[in-house]
Amino acid sequence: MSTQHKLRWGILGAARINQQLMPAIVAAKNSELVAIASRRPDAAEATLKQYAPDIENVRIYNNPAELLKDPDIQAVYIPLASEEHALWTLRAIEHGKHVLCEKPMALSVADIENIEIAAEKHQVRVMEGFMYRFHPQHQRIQEIINSGAIGEVRSVRTCFAYPMQPARLYRIDRSISTGGGAMWDIGCYAIHTARFHFGDIQAQAVTAMAKHNEHGADVSSSGIIDFDDGRYAQFNFSFEHARRAEYEIIASKGGIKCHNVWAKANEQPIISWQADSGELQTESLDLANHFQLEVEHFCDCVLNNKPLKLSLQDAKTNCQIIVAALDSVEQGKTIKIN
Ligand SMILES: NC(=O)c1ccc[n+]([C@@H]2O[C@H](COP(=O)([O-])OP(=O)(O)OC[C@H]3O[C@@H](n4cnc5c(N)ncnc54)[C@H](OP(=O)(O)O)[C@@H]3O)[C@@H](O)[C@H]2O)c1
Repeated sequence: MSTQHKLRWGILGAARINQQLMPAIVAAKNSELVAIASRRPDAAEATLKQYAPDIENVRIYNNPAELLKDPDIQAVYIPLASEEHALWTLRAIEHGKHVLCEKPMALSVADIENIEIAAEKHQVRVMEGFMYRFHPQHQRIQEIINSGAIGEVRSVRTCFAYPMQPARLYRIDRSISTGGGAMWDIGCYAIHTARFHFGDIQAQAVTAMAKHNEHGADVSSSGIIDFDDGRYAQFNFSFEHARRAEYEIIASKGGIKCHNVWAKANEQPIISWQADSGELQTESLDLANHFQLEVEHFCDCVLNNKPLKLSLQDAKTNCQIIVAALDSVEQGKTIKIN
């Protein structure tokens, strides 16, 4: 067991997601915010004032590279735009920092392999920030599945969407190959949740279709992942329809639905499930802050040398299926996954 109780963090960008992560780093019992960087003068300071107004002595850097040289920082959180994740994760690792990187960790499997090699060389921990996995509602769903009440998982349907607001249009004014579009932003959740509930079963193939805008960014997409033996995940994600973050598991003897995968700390988590032989059960679960739970888990694993819940192998497999789905759209055919 480590004698150190708090992991010292630097944040590598003044991104909007800091609204969730910065208070989580501040509130987590085993974590301490010591620095933030932004390439925009004043943006780091403004973010700090807005989301962590009561914390004093947080150092501000006008350049993420300077923050990485700070020997007092042990771990960095990377909230930069998706296409910058792999580069800054590698730079952070080379400075001996542990890394919690926003999803998606990279735009190619090869980049995650390089991250894996570098993390091993520099003996640091790296995790992709799929915060939803730390919400207890998914553990409750796993408990119901493991109890055998609904039988074996045969199908997963996922839907992740929100109507793109004008202020966020820059996310879709660039092509998929440069990190733009819905797949890298919200489609990664659809694939991650489906894989989670099929456990160790490997995806065999993906068929997908998408609508693109004039910049080559996907704005709506749907598809099927083949998990072998008649098990399929159907995914749907869009920037053009109403907000949804849900999945439904259809098993051999019943089913379960998670109604809000992105449940915030003040949003009631609700799941519903039904065995073919019984009544529909609706469970309102305790409120939970998955961002804070994610940070606490990461700190605990680093400080006490425990295995991370989300491995780099998991990040590579997710990226492999994302890339196969994008290839399927481009080539108009089913893509096999080897
Ligand atoms: N886990 C979640 O629930 C969740 C939710 C939303 C997003 N995300 C992920 O988090 C990452 C960041 O998303 P976000 O929506 O927070 O990104 P964002 O606000 O667009 O910020 C991303 C980066 O772009 C730069 N930037 C921000 N506003 C800018 C502006 N007005 N002009 C120029 N540069 C600007 C910042 O870097 P500098 O500070 O260095 O300038 C910032 O770190 C993405 O990978 C996304 O997928 C996760």
